[in-house]
Amino acid sequence: MAKTAHDPSMILKPGCYDGLNQQIVNEMHASLQYNAIASYFDSEGLPALAGHFNRQADEERTHALKFVKYLHDAGARPLFKSIPDVRNDFKSASDAVQCALEGELKVTSQINDLVGTASKQNDYMTHTFLQWFVTEQLEEVSTVSTLLQIIKHAGPSLLLVEDHVRRMAAAAPEEADA
Ligand SMILES: [Fe+2]
Ligand SMILES: [Fe+2]
Repeated sequence: MAKTAHDPSMILKPGCYDGLNQQIVNEMHASLQYNAIASYFDSEGLPALAGHFNRQADEERTHALKFVKYLHDAGARPLFKSIPDVRNDFKSASDAVQCALEGELKVTSQINDLVGTASKQNDYMTHTFLQWFVTEQLEEVSTVSTLLQIIKHAGPSLLLVEDHVRRMAAAAPEEADA
C-alpha cells in the first residue's frame, strides 16, 4: 500500500514523528525571523549585521532540512505545515538582537522537549540524532548573547559592531560567503 504523509515509520514512535515534523516548522520559523531581523539591519544601513543574520537564516533552513532528511532516512514522510508570523518591527538594534536571543532560547527548549519525548518513548535513534542540535543550540545561544552584550556596550556606535561582525565572518570563512 502506498504510504500517506501521515504514516509514521515502522521505527519512529508517533510522539517523535509529530515532534520531528513540528521542528521542521520551528526551524523554518527561526529562518524567516532571521531574514526579518536582517532586513531591519539592511534598512538601517548596517550591511555586516544584515549579512550575519541572513547567514543565520540560511543555517536555520539547513536545520529544517536535516529534520526532513532524518524523517526520510527513518522511513517516514515529512509533513510540511504553515509557518507562523514573525516579528518585523524593531525599536533598535538591541531590540532586534534580543528577539534573536529569545528565538534561540525558544528553539533550545523545543529541542529539549523533543529529547525528552524520545527518551520517554525509548526512541534512542531519534535521541542520538538530536544530540547534534543540543550542541548546536549551546553555540547559537552563546553567539547571540555575546552579540547582544557587544551591541549594548557599543551604545549608539553601531559601526564598531559592524567591524566586529566582519571580523567574526572572516574568522569563519565557510559561513562568510553565504
Ligand atoms: Fe536551528
Ligand atoms: Fe538557531
